[in-house]
Amino acid sequence: MKAVLCHQFGPPESLTVDEIAWPEAGPGQVVIAVKACGVNFPDTLIIEGKYQFKPAFPFSPGGEVAGVVREVGADVTHLKPGDNVFALTGWGGFAEGVLADAVKTFPMPSGMDYATAASLMYTYGTSYHALKQRAQVRSGETLLVLGAAGGVGLAAVTLGKLMGARVIAAASTEEKLALCREYGADETINYTTQPLRDRLTELVGKKGVDVVYDPVGGNLAEQALRSMAWGGRYLVVGFAAGPIPSLPFNLPLLKGCSVVGVFWGAFAERQPKENKQNVQELLQFWEQGQLVPHIHATYPLENAADALSEMVGRRVMGKVLMVI
Ligand SMILES: NC(=O)c1ccc[n+]([C@@H]2O[C@H](COP(=O)([O-])OP(=O)(O)OC[C@H]3O[C@@H](n4cnc5c(N)ncnc54)[C@H](OP(=O)(O)O)[C@@H]3O)[C@@H](O)[C@H]2O)c1
Repeated sequence: MKAVLCHQFGPPESLTVDEIAWPEAGPGQVVIAVKACGVNFPDTLIIEGKYQFKPAFPFSPGGEVAGVVREVGADVTHLKPGDNVFALTGWGGFAEGVLADAVKTFPMPSGMDYATAASLMYTYGTSYHALKQRAQVRSGETLLVLGAAGGVGLAAVTLGKLMGARVIAAASTEEKLALCREYGADETINYTTQPLRDRLTELVGKKGVDVVYDPVGGNLAEQALRSMAWGGRYLVVGFAAGPIPSLPFNLPLLKGCSVVGVFWGAFAERQPKENKQNVQELLQFWEQGQLVPHIHATYPLENAADALSEMVGRRVMGKVLMVI
């Protein structure tokens, strides 16, 4: 089968497309013939050796796939060859076939296409866990989403609205902000043309923002933290801008607010029942037409480097997918 391979850590251009043997399913595993694989920011980190996980070489990036079960391990009973599924793989998805843990593989609801199924888990899974379990967003609260047109950001905009929040979407271009408004954002902030904190003061006054969703980090973090409401929750989701912010510890004290870490992958491992419940609720939102991933572009395996470069170049709105 064809696979995009990382033979040594490096930029997207260092990936190769090679012919390799199909994997075989061991106990508790399934082999999936991949139809679509979501591209996520961690894919850009894993090939550079900058992510939490460092798979053995050679490996394929690609942490969430949708496709058809080709083979199941002897003890796997809830899936069979021919089933349409979506799965979390961590890596390995930029390939015609991938090995997945059966417990992280879910049947696709009828009527869902592969592109949608490969766009659900990382982004909506992360943002729903962040807003539901970590921030416990309540109806009527104000939610500021940074990097709001990105993968997890746009999911947070959608889910924040579904949870009854007043959503302020912040991003770097007018085109990105227009998409956020299409997805329900009540207000927008272009943080390349106006200081984030000034515009937030215009929008929420002295009361401040109840919940900040931050997948970007960098120099936006302190401005957002300074704009928090009493009792607010600051969600630390990621550091797409690069630098990990160092923040003054007096601010949470003065504002009586919390700085809350979000690590969805670990949540899914440690609290599988709650995660499964979250996934079911997300599927219900999808069935009701309330959750529609924005597909920015699709790429064949041969152009994996272009897909990852789009993401590194900050040009992606919503999701990019590899399709087979
Ligand atoms: N904690 C968790 O469980 C978890 C789960 C999934 C992802 N994440 C993290 O969340 C972050 C976003 O992931 P994603 O898949 O949504 O990525 P994405 O689609 O690329 O979105 C990231 C956004 O960050 C902004 N950004 C600012 N500076 C950037 C830079 N130098 N390079 C790239 N983007 C930059 C961009 O928005 P503007 O151009 O509008 O600023 C971009 O839309 C990543 O750090 C990822 O590792 C965390």
